[in-house]
Amino acid sequence: MIELTSEFNRPPRILLVDDNPANIELLKLQLRSSGYDLETAQDGLQALDKVRSWKPDLVLLDLMMPKMSGYEVCQFMKSDREFCFIPIIIVTALRELDDKLKAIEFGADDFLIKPFNKLELATRIRSLLRMKLLYDDLDTSENILFSLAQAIETKDPYTRGHSERVARYSRHMAKAIGLSEKEQNAIWRGGLIHDIGKIGVDEAILHKQGPLTPEEIAHVRLHPQKGYDICCPLRSLQSSLCVIRSHHERFDGGGHPDGLEGETIPLPARIASIVDTFDAMTTNRPYRKAMHFEEATKILAAEKDWGQWDPKLVTEFVQLVHADFTPAS
Ligand SMILES: [Fe+2]
Repeated sequence: MIELTSEFNRPPRILLVDDNPANIELLKLQLRSSGYDLETAQDGLQALDKVRSWKPDLVLLDLMMPKMSGYEVCQFMKSDREFCFIPIIIVTALRELDDKLKAIEFGADDFLIKPFNKLELATRIRSLLRMKLLYDDLDTSENILFSLAQAIETKDPYTRGHSERVARYSRHMAKAIGLSEKEQNAIWRGGLIHDIGKIGVDEAILHKQGPLTPEEIAHVRLHPQKGYDICCPLRSLQSSLCVIRSHHERFDGGGHPDGLEGETIPLPARIASIVDTFDAMTTNRPYRKAMHFEEATKILAAEKDWGQWDPKLVTEFVQLVHADFTPAS
């Protein structure tokens, strides 16, 4: 019997990863009657290749393998936006609690100790495949928002690619100051859609050449709140919401929409705010040419004590930009 076929519109794909061919054969035997589409890998590197090329719906993963361990495979998959929703069941002979805890810490969704019985295996797989279907729906909603954010930008040649650059460099900065992979990922996603609220801003105002009236400024300033309202229902975006809502807050408390001050502004938003401004300065705008990175960092450094940004972060950012952008002599 093929399970869950109608929901997936094809047999669910399961990747079996184990360096011992006898274990792979045993798993195949136990899953033979389920109708799943099975693929195998004999080490961690091969497993990641198959994850990328074959896109399984679930992975049964051994821990101790040559080249790359199951822990590393798990950690890699769970920190990648494309693969983090693929359920992973660790299948191992290890009985130590520490190993189990370590695998769960790295993001494993379930754990089976060898030898396990066929019914237990089938039940766990079925329940995680159901979860995968829900994630697929969630992921689709998230991707629609990312595409929408890109579509808004594409309309304006001056902002094309802006969010992608803000996302990438904010993640780079987050890594440089030692934030976890999970936090780096949240900042990256937030960066990609930080201006999605502009979908609710009048286009004539958004693309107006010349200074805005006070009413128009107030209207544009609604976009962080609008973006937050759009993304709020998506659970997968919860840790990125602070970037969307607070990227126009100022360290001295004079920003919007909440007038947050100092370190009450979430760290991801403080980072994105600096990168957002830097990107705007170093790209062409209708009213001026792009600045050289040295000029832009000089302005950031000079203004860091005036209150817009977290001064410590500006110092870190300027150093990072110089290290990245200065041509090697
Ligand atoms: Fe913005």
